[in-house]
Amino acid sequence: MKIDLKFKYRDLIKYLKDEAPFNPHIAIVLGSGLGNFAASIKILKSFSTSSLPDYPPSTIKGHEGKIHFAKYENKNLLLFQGRIHFYEGYKISECILTVFIANLLKCKYLLLTNAAGGINPTFVPGDLMLNLSINGMSIKKEIAGLIGLSDERGKNNFKNFPSIHFNKTITQAAYDEKIDLKEGTYWFTKGPSYETPAEVRMIGNFGGDAVGMSTAHEAVLGAYLGMETASISCITNYAAGITGQKLSHEEVTDTAKLVEKIFEKLVKKTIYLLD
Ligand code: HPA
Repeated sequence: MKIDLKFKYRDLIKYLKDEAPFNPHIAIVLGSGLGNFAASIKILKSFSTSSLPDYPPSTIKGHEGKIHFAKYENKNLLLFQGRIHFYEGYKISECILTVFIANLLKCKYLLLTNAAGGINPTFVPGDLMLNLSINGMSIKKEIAGLIGLSDERGKNNFKNFPSIHFNKTITQAAYDEKIDLKEGTYWFTKGPSYETPAEVRMIGNFGGDAVGMSTAHEAVLGAYLGMETASISCITNYAAGITGQKLSHEEVTDTAKLVEKIFEKLVKKTIYLLD
């Protein structure tokens, strides 16, 4: 059964329509440890997600739970500092709230960013990877519940993920800023914990370059709704079993912090280049 998001979030829709200072052009979801980007640009109005009707609380350290209306290079932006994940025990209808809101406010572009474990042997923590494709096999069922059976329009929109135009723009931005932007496939896992070494070996054998616990469903919905959608991963750690070291959330946020400035440059240049 398809979930009626417009009904479920009717109070939130009304609230945002009344309170949004403008219709943003570009929405950016800031992943684990990447939230500081919001501090680097001019914020015009912010909301704590806890003040929004029906918005579930973020349970994770490093996920602020804020929505900002901001401006950069004269472009109207919507920034999500924090997102809702499956591994927090939430449903798909809650995990896609960022995308639902971006679309409600008529964003043309949706940039999803995330922290991910590196599997490709050429990747090191601190690398940024443009997602050329996403493997979201493990959430197909939930996505079907979200968007129902695709009509012709929906099927065609899937073909535009990632947006070729958007990915080209990000690649250009990296070139202009002399950033060594890696490229690869992002492999989604639901969590709740990081992967086992055996899972990571399988993902690597099946063509995954990086693994993370967000983005896949958001990207599908964004593209389905007709937004130009792209995603960038910050490789925050070697995926489980690649080195002998145990993974921790601190390692993830610490590495993201180290690349904060490079990430900021890449995203700012991308915003500048987008039409
Ligand atoms: N696995 C899943 N999610 C992640 C990882 C990881 O290794 N690193 C950051 N988010």
